Amino acid sequence: MGTYVPEKVLTNSDLERMVDTSDDWIRCRTGIVERRVVEGDTATSDLAAAAAKKALEDAGINDSEIDLILVATSTPDMIFPSTACLVQSKLGINGCAAFDIQAACSGFVYGLTVASQFIESGMYKTVLLIGADAFTKHINWEDRNTCILFGDGAGAFVLHEVENGYGLLSSYLMADGRGADLLKIPAGGSAHPGSEYSVQNKLHFVQMNGNAVFKFAVRILHEAAIGALTKAGLTVGDIDYLIPHQANIRIIDAAMERLGIDRNKIILNLEKYGNTSTASIPLALYDLYNSGDLKRGDLLLFVGFGAGLTWGANIIRWV
Ligand code: ACO
Repeated sequence: MGTYVPEKVLTNSDLERMVDTSDDWIRCRTGIVERRVVEGDTATSDLAAAAAKKALEDAGINDSEIDLILVATSTPDMIFPSTACLVQSKLGINGCAAFDIQAACSGFVYGLTVASQFIESGMYKTVLLIGADAFTKHINWEDRNTCILFGDGAGAFVLHEVENGYGLLSSYLMADGRGADLLKIPAGGSAHPGSEYSVQNKLHFVQMNGNAVFKFAVRILHEAAIGALTKAGLTVGDIDYLIPHQANIRIIDAAMERLGIDRNKIILNLEKYGNTSTASIPLALYDLYNSGDLKRGDLLLFVGFGAGLTWGANIIRWV
């Protein structure tokens, strides 16, 4: 496992000088205190490659053992080639497959599920899975509804076969395209390619209906968690650690209260990183991994949600 966050820290106090907001409002309404932001021409593939390099070192494997590079991102460097191909080149890895997965902030949960299918089917032995996003590149820094929420980062994992009963035990994935308008970056694709109009109308920035996304997230965090637990034949009481997508502390608190899980089992890091999209679950898992508390046999529950709308959960027994 390996992670990477940019060095530059953007605090709530910094944002107070940019838009009509306050440190107190952001802390109370979101739980975020600061976030990391990319600078200059740093792109998502740079964050992804830096995290992947650490993961490869941590796994102690030879580059030639990687069969597939899978990057979950919704802020790719460009429409094509895929960010996975750019990462492959930056890492100097040859002779493997590479592609991206786009499921917004559910990308890591979706990506872990897809990666494990390749291993379970026997098609590939070793998959490099990376969740990486640079959302701050797509933020309108005059829009206080969105600019306070997002940060940048990446998390990478080298995945391979483990003994029965360990690793990924179940996945629950869901989507509802009827909610596509609630959270989007409208321009830059084939519907609205870049144009004078798209730039003037700020269509290349994140647009969000915060209240609607909030209500959706509270509802589906519960649904996804129960869905994955049921598939694995487990109950909430069996879970040792729950890692939710780090979007807003109030979303997490409300959903977790409904779920009836102890607060000390929930891993949180949004205070220091904000919403890092596909990187948020890997970054939080890395904190837990480094704390030394994680032990073999522990049951982990990951829950993600995001634009699409998409949502999902994974149950993992730590090896
Ligand atoms: N600073 C100060 N005041 C603000 C700010 C701000 N940054 N933003 C909004 N306000 C004001 C509003 O104008 C409003 O004022 P009014 O009462 O005078 O009209 C008041 O604060 C309350 O506004 P709400 O929008 O109702 O605030 P809410 O409590 O819903 O919080 C927030 C807004 C934080 C965006 C919340 O709705 C949220 O977290 N939504 C979910 C967002 C999310 O998770 N998005 C990512 C999904 S993952 C992905 O796929 C990218």
